Amino acid sequence: MIKKYRFYSPFQTDAVIKNIELSSELVYLQKEETDTSISFSYPLDKEDAVYGLGENVRGINKRGFTYKSQCVDDTKHLENKNSLYSAHNFLVVFGKNTFGIFVDCPGIVSFDIGDSDMDMLSIQVEGKDLDLYIIEGNSISDIVKQFREIIGQSYIPPKWGFGYQQSRWGYKNSDDFREVAFQYKKHHIPLEAIYMDIDYMEDYKNFTYDSQKFPDFDKLILEMKQQGIHLVPIIDAGVKIQDGYSVYEEGKKNNYFCKDINDNDFVGGVWPGRCHFPDFLNKDTREWFGNQYKYLLDKGIDGFWNDMNEPSIFYSEKRLGEAFQFAREMENQSIDVNTFFRLTKHFGKLSNNKEDYKLFYHHVNGKKYRHDFLHNLYGYNMTRAAGEAFERLCPDQRILMFSRSSYIGMHRYGGLWTGDNRSWWSHLLLNIQMMPSLNMCGFLYAGADIGGYCDNVTEDLLMRWIEFGMFTPLMRNHNCGQRDQELYQFKNISDFKHLIELRYAFIPYLYSEYLKCAYHNDLYFRPLVFDYPDDSITKEIEDQLMVGESIMIAPIYKQNATGRYIYLPEDMMMITFRAFDDYDQKVINKGHHYIPVQLNEVVIFIKKHHIIPLCKPADNTSKMDFHTLYILGYIEGHASYTLYDDGKTKDDYQKTEIIIHKNTIQPIDNYHLEFHK
Ligand code: GLC
Repeated sequence: MIKKYRFYSPFQTDAVIKNIELSSELVYLQKEETDTSISFSYPLDKEDAVYGLGENVRGINKRGFTYKSQCVDDTKHLENKNSLYSAHNFLVVFGKNTFGIFVDCPGIVSFDIGDSDMDMLSIQVEGKDLDLYIIEGNSISDIVKQFREIIGQSYIPPKWGFGYQQSRWGYKNSDDFREVAFQYKKHHIPLEAIYMDIDYMEDYKNFTYDSQKFPDFDKLILEMKQQGIHLVPIIDAGVKIQDGYSVYEEGKKNNYFCKDINDNDFVGGVWPGRCHFPDFLNKDTREWFGNQYKYLLDKGIDGFWNDMNEPSIFYSEKRLGEAFQFAREMENQSIDVNTFFRLTKHFGKLSNNKEDYKLFYHHVNGKKYRHDFLHNLYGYNMTRAAGEAFERLCPDQRILMFSRSSYIGMHRYGGLWTGDNRSWWSHLLLNIQMMPSLNMCGFLYAGADIGGYCDNVTEDLLMRWIEFGMFTPLMRNHNCGQRDQELYQFKNISDFKHLIELRYAFIPYLYSEYLKCAYHNDLYFRPLVFDYPDDSITKEIEDQLMVGESIMIAPIYKQNATGRYIYLPEDMMMITFRAFDDYDQKVINKGHHYIPVQLNEVVIFIKKHHIIPLCKPADNTSKMDFHTLYILGYIEGHASYTLYDDGKTKDDYQKTEIIIHKNTIQPIDNYHLEFHK
């Protein structure tokens, strides 16, 4: 049951795609208004927990902090940060009353969840124009499902998007890419994709490549493809201002860029220097920008990552001018402490200054909007431009696409990665805890930079992260630290090889579960309390997750740990893998346990009468036989599983029932099934 309320005249974000009648009497929430904002409050019961808010800091239960929806490029994802790259305004209160709230507003929204007052949930919307949805249902999962139904089906990547992917800001020329592919092959570690960061471009210009460093660009793409490896280039939001550069020229001529107050194209600095920013909120701009991807699609590229689309702005002309002016005035003077701080403040406040978001405008359906009121929609609409273009340009093909910044609605066009994290154990835990919240908001194709993006990863952290990352749909190792982070750079290469092979072995299960969740609006990652709401212990478990319908995982996220405490809400079969064909299994009873997990081991727990279908790993998905499946499970006489796989067309799926009766697998046409040994 969904109730919708409208306040003033909200911008239509297209987050919700179902028509819902407006209600008048507000339930659960108390409304208050000032001249500039609206707030809603709800008294929290002692036992209430709050889930959701997608990409955010802190734990699974969001109670006890203030989160702010204001997409920002910030590389320090610390506990005290209120905002990350995305704005996902959906949450569920679970307890005395259980209900969902979606605040559909593209401006700044704050969620004070028992922070100022530990027993009060208070939501403040700046700007007052919004649509508010209250969702009631039988359970958290039911509420989430109803919400997901109104926001539309989540993006489905191509199956190869489930392969292992390697990235680094630092691969500079064709040889660097060949070397990565060569090393993975040499060490027999499967590899699906290598990412092209900004250095592939000519002067950091979107939809170009540097012909000096990549004299054989087209050949490189094909050569990789022949090995089953996809090259995935980055696309940034800012368009370099340069005479003769066609994207700039076309954008300027057709008024596709955001305007400043005087109706000139707004200028901000990003990687290439001075840039204009496409007005992605405008349909014509989206169509034009989306068509630009064709340049790379035609060369055989079939995956992209959209970046810097909060949008990230290193400096505005205005602020940079002021900083230089001040510096010039202070030149040759004896700078005292106060002046020194003013000087550093001028330069320190240049990047991503929120005031700069008040300097430019969007034009949508004949109306002009100041950017800051629609800020959180920018990354969403950049990715929408791409997604809409792929539908036009290659309607029969699934293109890999994910973005850094997003708003709910973007989940229909692409996935996301969680931005510039660090090689910290706490960020591995953050990755674990963020995944279910992202799923609640529709973002199923998601993952963090495995190993951490900034700083130097240690081998044990990378291995533990891979052991969790092997369950995330997007499994990408990306970094910019001094230490190289490709798996072959470390000592225990064969352990990494076994772990990546295991990920490949799991693809039939993971992809099947992904398709189910996308088509039926379910959650791929679930906190235990979502599945076992009557077991009060599960509410406090924030480091174990259900993955799909058959398994639970309990990743290790502490350095030097050789095991961990776990809680089982029911009897389960524990499988400890060292490799695809090297594992132990034993039944563990409901309750608390300590389990050993050596550095090279992955543990999963299979529910009773459930199975997982596995496949033999290969160099990459193009070489795998997905019709020979090895069954592993907690069978106890009988078990069953519905396997989903790609259908005949892109928008279709195929369903196959695997039935085990009296410990015997029933044969199925087109598949060879056997128990895993
Ligand atoms: C941003 C991205 C990061 C990328 C870098 C250079 O920081 O988040 O992934 O490597 O830009 O393009």
